Amino acid sequence: MNRDPGLRADMDVLTRSPDATKPESSYEKVVVLPRMGDDDPANHAWADARFAADILAEHALFFALLMPEELAAKERAEALRFKDSFSELYQRIDADGPPQRSDLRSFVATVTEPIKPFIEYKARLGEAQSTGKLRSLVWPLFFDHTRHEAERWERRLKGLGTGESEFERAEVVRFWTNIMDEHARFVAHLLDPDEFELVEKAFSTATVFRRLRDDSVGGTVGALAAEPGTVIDSLAQNPEVDAVMSAVQTILDFKTQAVRDIEAGRIKSIIEPRLADHVRREALKFLNELKRAV
Ligand SMILES: [Fe+2]
Ligand SMILES: [Fe+2]
Repeated sequence: MNRDPGLRADMDVLTRSPDATKPESSYEKVVVLPRMGDDDPANHAWADARFAADILAEHALFFALLMPEELAAKERAEALRFKDSFSELYQRIDADGPPQRSDLRSFVATVTEPIKPFIEYKARLGEAQSTGKLRSLVWPLFFDHTRHEAERWERRLKGLGTGESEFERAEVVRFWTNIMDEHARFVAHLLDPDEFELVEKAFSTATVFRRLRDDSVGGTVGALAAEPGTVIDSLAQNPEVDAVMSAVQTILDFKTQAVRDIEAGRIKSIIEPRLADHVRREALKFLNELKRAV
């Protein structure tokens, strides 16, 4: 058992700066993933369960931050309960290390079971917010976005429970390009309205990921035609480079710089640094899955 993921010798520990040995700020969370080429479902189940439990705890935290007592006391209290239970689950997974192969199915169930009521919460409140029954500060799209992530983690973990660790490229690209598109639009709407240039850059980035969604030659050409210089920088120098990979690397670099600038107060916004680091880690996960996908 290894309580410090920084010391987990058999896995990759991914930090904001490629060569760092520890987080660069109190907001940075390191991502621990199986080494490239390691397709052991127990290692993947542990790493993805650890990643997902933390992400889901943060979704609940973001809901609570966007639900003032005055507007949504009951919903806020419910969100805080989800935050506590997913934080606890995360701590347990982190401390215990990967399960035995024979325990895979039951290990996976300890994560997929608590995801179900959270999916239901996100669906119910998303509906209430979009029909005006709930007047929190959570956008309907934020409820949908976080629900789609929860549903995807449930699917992924179920597959891992049956020993299936492989990523299918079409699924990875379809799921994550949509998530990246929505992140970019969230950022555009959370930046200070005075940040003209960054708001525009965020919208351009969203457009590129919408065009790349079907991962076809047409999609790539469309993305390049729409935003030739914005996202796909390295493609211009090396047309052999995978267009989606290049776009993901670029958005990851953008988010890494953005979280540093938000922490340092160089960007004016209402983006909480924990949210900025959250979307950075999701871009990192996309890139990592894409490298493994077949
Ligand atoms: Fe998320
Ligand atoms: Fe997200």
